Amino acid sequence: MLPTDFLDESVLTDADWEDLYDLARRIHRDPLAFSSEAQGKILGTLFYEPSTRTRLSFETAMLRLGGQVIGFADPSSSSVTKGETLKDTIKIVSSYCDILALRTPLEGGPHAASLFSSVPVINAGDGSHLHPTQTLTDLFCIRHRAGTLTGLTVGFCGDLLNGRTVHSLSAPLARRGCTFYFVSAPSLALPKHLKQQLVLAGARVCECESLNDCIEKLDVLYMTRTQRERGSEAVDSDGLRLTADKMARARREMLVLHPLPKVDEIAPEVDDDPRALYFAQAKGGVSIRMALMLRLMERPYEQKRVPYSFEKRRCTNPRCVTAFEPGLYPDAEAGAFGECCAYCSHPFAH
Ligand code: NCD
Repeated sequence: MLPTDFLDESVLTDADWEDLYDLARRIHRDPLAFSSEAQGKILGTLFYEPSTRTRLSFETAMLRLGGQVIGFADPSSSSVTKGETLKDTIKIVSSYCDILALRTPLEGGPHAASLFSSVPVINAGDGSHLHPTQTLTDLFCIRHRAGTLTGLTVGFCGDLLNGRTVHSLSAPLARRGCTFYFVSAPSLALPKHLKQQLVLAGARVCECESLNDCIEKLDVLYMTRTQRERGSEAVDSDGLRLTADKMARARREMLVLHPLPKVDEIAPEVDDDPRALYFAQAKGGVSIRMALMLRLMERPYEQKRVPYSFEKRRCTNPRCVTAFEPGLYPDAEAGAFGECCAYCSHPFAH
């Protein structure tokens, strides 16, 4: 059964995923049949960072289910600028609505919010950490188009250091026996601890600096932009740009995905290639978010509390929510290889 909050895709069992996929497919085929499923319900969207697709697709999803939406797209229009804590904002807004979607630059922010909230919290992206509803969107698209998620050869290209969508999506694909090609400049390579986690989960991992080294082998190519707002510096390299001539060498059935927004990592003529699925991918994001919200709202919410910390440890990740929100201490959780912060998953040993 789905947990009461949706903070990380890895909490889904195979049965949860099958159920969500199935419901999302039914919604996708006939959205009107679900147009009063959430009548009387209110979604709160708290976006502390810019967003177009994620926020609008959450809002569209709730409106298509017959519910309503409150929230902010820009924290400067809220009491956050007056110094209000996350705790107080979440306590208040969760008392106004039935489900919350939160995007924040603070890693582990949605986990913290779930301790203060009286309604289900959905992680709509937290810093460079995770973006689990984008992952559902990506998995929905791949499964729908490729017919499976198992045993695929997947290329991730671009900013693998700070791109949260890559961090989120690689984990479930690793659990399903996929092979990865991580294509990036060395300065934007996948963090070592994440790579090790994927290998431990059974994935085969290859790293290269140009799409020319792997494009012929890929079933799926996942392109990403440089996350300048998180300190990543763009690298001008022809090998990292998807162009029509590279597409000509790729498999006839290769799927090209991108979480969007794209900047200049994909040449405009690629948009017209039938293998370029990013616009359809974003559309499917509404159906899978409708399915997720319906499932999260259908059972009683289990209220949690901030755990008492004896040790009062500090997380070494400067972007961890525990560095900003008073009263939160990062109790350790068992990670794939040693202890990590229960909020932002940063390894304690690093
Ligand atoms: C992504 C995000 O915000 O992490 N976009 C999205 O949610 N659709 C990717 C990005 O901003 O590069």
